[in-house]
Amino acid sequence: MWLPCGCTSKYVASSFARRTLASYLHVSGRSRCNVAAFMPEAAGLEGVSGRAALRELSVSNSESFWAAVARHRLCWSTPFHTVQDCDLSRGKIKWFEGGKLNVSVNCLDRHVHTCPERVALIWERDERGSEMKYTYGELLEMTCRLGNLLRRHGVKRGDCVTIYMPTCPLAVASMLACARIGAAHNVVFAGFSADALAERIRDAQSSTVITVNQGVRGGKVTELKKTVDTAMQSCPTVKQVFVAMRTDNPVTMTARDIAMEEYVFSYHDGDVFGCVADIGWITGHSYVVYGPLANGATTVLFESTPIYPDPGRYWDMVERLKINQFYGAPTAIRLLLKYGDQWVNKYDRSTLKTLGSVGEPINTEAWEWYHRVVGDGRCPVVDTWWQTETGGICIAPRPSDPDAEIVPGMAMRPFFGINPVLMDTEGEVLTSNNTSGALCMAQPWPGMARTIHNNHQRFIDTYFQPYPGYFFTGDGAYRSEEGYYQITGRLDDVINVSGHRIGTAEIEDVVNQCPAVAESAVVGYTHSIKGQGVYAFVVLKKGIDVQEADLSRQLNGMVSEKIAKYASPDFIQFAKRLPKTRSGKIMRRVLRKVVESDLEGLGDLSTLDDPAAVQEIIQGHEKLLSKNRS
Ligand code: WTA
Repeated sequence: MWLPCGCTSKYVASSFARRTLASYLHVSGRSRCNVAAFMPEAAGLEGVSGRAALRELSVSNSESFWAAVARHRLCWSTPFHTVQDCDLSRGKIKWFEGGKLNVSVNCLDRHVHTCPERVALIWERDERGSEMKYTYGELLEMTCRLGNLLRRHGVKRGDCVTIYMPTCPLAVASMLACARIGAAHNVVFAGFSADALAERIRDAQSSTVITVNQGVRGGKVTELKKTVDTAMQSCPTVKQVFVAMRTDNPVTMTARDIAMEEYVFSYHDGDVFGCVADIGWITGHSYVVYGPLANGATTVLFESTPIYPDPGRYWDMVERLKINQFYGAPTAIRLLLKYGDQWVNKYDRSTLKTLGSVGEPINTEAWEWYHRVVGDGRCPVVDTWWQTETGGICIAPRPSDPDAEIVPGMAMRPFFGINPVLMDTEGEVLTSNNTSGALCMAQPWPGMARTIHNNHQRFIDTYFQPYPGYFFTGDGAYRSEEGYYQITGRLDDVINVSGHRIGTAEIEDVVNQCPAVAESAVVGYTHSIKGQGVYAFVVLKKGIDVQEADLSRQLNGMVSEKIAKYASPDFIQFAKRLPKTRSGKIMRRVLRKVVESDLEGLGDLSTLDDPAAVQEIIQGHEKLLSKNRS
């Protein structure tokens, strides 16, 4: 989670982190330069007199730092004897050796002891206005019952349970119940097809699956249980499927299926952390479930879509649930920007304190709209960079001093214990500022991945082989004169035009600055002369009526002027929408294949939000080519 600045500033970070850090770090506005007051366990760390010095120490003496945090923040059933035993050059990652803890105890029991009535989850159900609240006490009870149920049916320590459910309290309780009894969980995003689900069940060698009868999202019903039934045909290892009821519609049950009873819960008030990610993705794991709950926060489970039943859904929810921190994806921000300010202004957003963004670079226009319109110019927007492999946020504008500047569209500052470096193409560390390179991490930290399940060699090859001694993120970054980091995108999203390398995100950022443009995606394609050419897909804002040829000329002019002539797109295809995963990432792989006319190679489309988008893109591409030929 992004840890807070914890001060009496107009810029405050997440309240859950603030509240718990306030107790763990004993934060107070007045004594913020006194590090013992800021972080009591740092009292034993000599020579640390402020946040910057603390960050410095978290890198230079990371063992002491993480040991202090781990001892103070978590309940250990057996204390660890060795803080870390890591060797990045061999991909060996070991933290807190000898230590034992139960993450569900840390997420639940600890808080139930002190405040059982505090709201843990607010389930923002697809049906607007029908939210349900669950206290820590209730969540613990639900988790224990589920844990016992699983145990009674033979699930034991070391087993891996597959969870195929929409974002809902029972899914969270299922995750925690697995953790409680020592089983691993394999949460499969509920948008995956039967084939994709089956593959993941086989990979995990699960004998138990938990699902619901049907899902509901954006007013549409999805037949999750039926999808599981289909997947079962190629998953002989599965012995039992637990089925909970999300809707009232009965489904066909087989001998393998076990119906789960319902529970009933009451409603309470609480502080609210609103991360709108699906629990099937890493952001949902770290910032909907484990991060907030480990910190005793109230967390929102968002089941719906940003535009159901209308584009005011997020802000209506902010008003109704009194959300203090809102954490979302740039793609949703761009989508909503397209519908105009009135959908935001309709609702009271005065409870909001911090706005977060994650998942891809947030372009300047989206950042500014998020800040100016959604946050009334009052809430800081924190562009947080991290990835599944890093476990949690690694680079973000906060925590930092309360008045420290925030630059639009930049993740900026490395988090405690994170030591980023940039590498040149020869594998040398770039030491100067105002430079770009491959983003690597020079030091391990506790949240990082330790292996790839059943394939440790792949873990080493992917992350530690490219730059020996460093963890390689796969992303490119720019470090500014001031030492701030800006993520330029995946390194394989770089286009090389006539020997000039350019990140696709950079071109997109310029295209998106055109007031008529809602969003864009730029990909490279094989060009007989230039090596690679630039192909841009552009989605216009609602109600925009322009001549495509005029707009293309304008966009080419903008890119030539702001970047360089060589970066100006060779083709601009206007599209109604872009193919995206349901976590909101544009599927560039699909766009590249379309542009290369390799329709055979489109690959697995099961994670697509709306497969019809691909057909539209293919038709648009053919039309553009034939227009060009004639
Ligand atoms: C990209 C999601 C720019 C990046 C948490 C990373 C970002 C990948 C940002 C990880 C950001 C994430 N700015 N790019 N603030 N945050 N990314 O594993 O390319 O789904 O490597 O984790 O998303 O995606 P993942």
